[in-house]
Amino acid sequence: MNAPLRFAGQALRHDSALKHATGQARFLDDLPEPAGTLHAALALSPVAHGRLLGLDTAAAAAMPGVVRIITAADIPGENDIAPIGHGEAMLADGVVEHHGQSLALVVAETRDAALRAAAAITPRIEVLPPVLSIEEGLAREAWIIPPQTIREGDAATALAAAPHRLRGEFHAGGQEHFYLEGQIALAIPGEDGEMLVHSSTQHPTEGQHVIARVLGVPYHRVTVQCRRMGGAFGGKESNASWVAAAAAAAAALTGRPVKLRLPRRADMAATGKRHPFLYRWDVGFDATGKLLALDALLAGDGGHSLDMSGGVVFRAVTHALNCYAVPDVTLTACAVKTNHVSNTAFRGFGGPQGALLMEEVLAAIAAHLGREVEAIRAENFADRTPYGQALEAGLIRRVHAEAKRDAGWAEKQAEIAAFNASHPTLRRGLGSFVCAFGISFGIPHLNQAGALVHIYTDGSIRLAHGGTEMGQGLFIKVAQVVAEVFSVPVEQVGISATTTAEIPNTSATAASTGSDLNGWAAHAAATTLRERMAGVAATHFGCTAEEVVFENGAVFPAKPGSNERLSFGDLAKLCWKARVSLSATGFYKTPDIHWDAQAMRGEPFFYFSYGAAVAEVILDTLTGEHRCLSAHLVQDCGRSLNPAIDLGQIEGAFVQGLGWLTSEELFWDAEGRQRNLGPSTYKIPGSRDVPPILRTRLLEGAPNRAATIFRSKAVGEPPLLLATAVVNALRAAAGVVRLDLPATPERLLLNLRAQETG
Ligand code: MTE
Ligand code: HPA
Ligand code: MOS
Repeated sequence: MNAPLRFAGQALRHDSALKHATGQARFLDDLPEPAGTLHAALALSPVAHGRLLGLDTAAAAAMPGVVRIITAADIPGENDIAPIGHGEAMLADGVVEHHGQSLALVVAETRDAALRAAAAITPRIEVLPPVLSIEEGLAREAWIIPPQTIREGDAATALAAAPHRLRGEFHAGGQEHFYLEGQIALAIPGEDGEMLVHSSTQHPTEGQHVIARVLGVPYHRVTVQCRRMGGAFGGKESNASWVAAAAAAAAALTGRPVKLRLPRRADMAATGKRHPFLYRWDVGFDATGKLLALDALLAGDGGHSLDMSGGVVFRAVTHALNCYAVPDVTLTACAVKTNHVSNTAFRGFGGPQGALLMEEVLAAIAAHLGREVEAIRAENFADRTPYGQALEAGLIRRVHAEAKRDAGWAEKQAEIAAFNASHPTLRRGLGSFVCAFGISFGIPHLNQAGALVHIYTDGSIRLAHGGTEMGQGLFIKVAQVVAEVFSVPVEQVGISATTTAEIPNTSATAASTGSDLNGWAAHAAATTLRERMAGVAATHFGCTAEEVVFENGAVFPAKPGSNERLSFGDLAKLCWKARVSLSATGFYKTPDIHWDAQAMRGEPFFYFSYGAAVAEVILDTLTGEHRCLSAHLVQDCGRSLNPAIDLGQIEGAFVQGLGWLTSEELFWDAEGRQRNLGPSTYKIPGSRDVPPILRTRLLEGAPNRAATIFRSKAVGEPPLLLATAVVNALRAAAGVVRLDLPATPERLLLNLRAQETG
């Protein structure tokens, strides 16, 4: 696994890069619509909480082009789209639990007709008071996920005995995914109850299951296919399943193909977001800032239903100490039920929320002791987690030191101090962040993958695996793995859409595990085929199978003096003539991971990915406006499968994290209606928010010590957390400790004014 690589490890561009740039890449809405395709639209709840007494649909039904109106009672199978367990309605039935909840589905000849009719449906709702804050959910003990605690030592006793003690509380907001391609599905009914659904989904298998449940048919009737998504970020892990099921229900009930594409407003109102969190903490430490004891609560807003909140809470609590050590610690996390849309997976999946805790704690300790937070940070690095899993302290120190070196920390500090001393209103600040992010699905059995490789008689290879492409470059990475096994140029490997018909029972492409899992599964399938081919080649060359060499598109015996060789294609043809199968499946399951949910201990992650950042900001103290001037990032990708893709992932994740932490604010009014359902009022980062100096580097010479594919590491989510360095820089610039997030200009201005008035 440490041998030199020829095809894997190359900085190849994304297989669709040119097609993305020229508009030739086909997204779902670009597929030709089958003759007779109908269009669906959702009627959404105008209130956050209430008893649904009925729907007035007569006016909508009479509108031109309307074919059918579907309510909960019409659903052929179960009205249940829960990704885990049971009990989440696809169309509201009896009760409305959030603003924007789906009430009915209108099917019409055109999308415009469907949207107009959907808007004409009037629900009769007896309004009930909504629960809209985490505090209220906690007070009511309205659990989506009841409190779960990781405990080590005795925090209460150690807190009481600590020479210094501080308490605090802060909030972090949620985040809208804002994928460029919104939620969309096209369902095409076939014979005997068959349903083919093109779905923009991270999780084709879950789509298949939810569609089958809603239609009341066995899984084998349903095929879900996805060539690519125009972004997903966790938002198409579970939410794509109900969108696909709604299209399929409409197709089943009308007997015609149905496309459902949510308008941006509906997408933002009806689909889940990142979980907002409330933090309450109590820390004990000594005079140098050494952490002694911590008791913390992390409470997430689960929204109105379970969805995947269990996994998010798990990741929040397992990442709450991040890379820091506290000998006596109690970490409790939960998710409360509110009348918000059900919150869901979002890049980092609770990990970014968890890791915010220690940043506020360290900032508070530093301010209290009058020491630099950097010194306290470095003196408290951990070599294991509080649930008993080892961390690589050497890598934590390395990424931190390298990011600081790249940024020129000391010189920059001096420069900033001089600037701040001389400028009356502008203030600059510098901050760092270090991260240890656990890689694996929190639920052990999800850590599995399958692949299917065919070789045709011209030597071209068709690759299928269970992973989905959302822009992250998974397809090219897995193709590089297969190219490496056969030692053929990557162009010889044909990438295909993901479909449940080829790879069954897959996990979501999520938890950053896409290339770890599917890379090994494809490696297994390709290796099986290579061994078969080597057997045929050995007979042909008169050598042993072990002596057959595959090298750069050719196959030859490693016999001294031999100049015999075959092209890969000629060997494929020879195999076919010899009646040797040129098709194989591959399977992989992550070894060694385990978790004891009773004891809240174990080794749930196959390994950790490490990263660090240094960010510099400038803040206008008159307006609160701010800007990130520079960011230096160092991310551990092990032995990268594709450094070009990984750099893009790191930059993109950092900017997405910057949006979450500094500008993207979900705003609900007192009745629980989200009032910023579009980009004019919900501010995602634009190109000018990218720091003018953004230097990203992969950690060098650090192959994964865990046996991942070619010793690479996952990259999809961890670098999002690096944007936390910007928050720390803003703390420094504003001279504050407690900072609710996102740190918008309004919030910073309030903080600055509060300081002035004492
Ligand atoms: N990159 C792009 N361009 N688009 C996306 O939607 N999703 C992220 C990350 N990078 C995403 C992305 C999320 S949330 C995850 S979990 C991983 O990609 C999933 O893919 P991987 O496991 O292949 O890294
Ligand atoms: N990440 C993303 N999705 C998931 C996870 C996770 O850790 N666990 C279950 N679904
Ligand atoms: Mo990513 S939040 O695990 O889809």
